[in-house]
Amino acid sequence: MPRVSIPDTDKIFDVNTGEILYDSLYDRGHELPHGCLSGSCGACRVEVLSGSENLMPPGVIEQNTIESLRMELKVENIRLSCRAKVTGDVTIRPIK
Ligand code: FES
Repeated sequence: MPRVSIPDTDKIFDVNTGEILYDSLYDRGHELPHGCLSGSCGACRVEVLSGSENLMPPGVIEQNTIESLRMELKVENIRLSCRAKVTGDVTIRPIK
């Protein structure tokens, strides 16, 4: 069972393989920052501190939004919690 860690909050969640990151935490009582929940606004962005290989590769919509955010924020390991599917352990930090 994959484990999602959020060091800034000292919270760790066991989630199901293939769950969308945002949904998996919301269902367990932790709401990440969000907006559209469809991959285009970027409000749900998180920095992946470890385990980026344990998120399924981004689709076209997520990839386009990520590329815009990378240029704007100068952060490399960005994913969108409303789109990224978890396949193994990851450590994340929401980006304000
Ligand atoms: S909430 Fe808008 S891109 Fe995820």
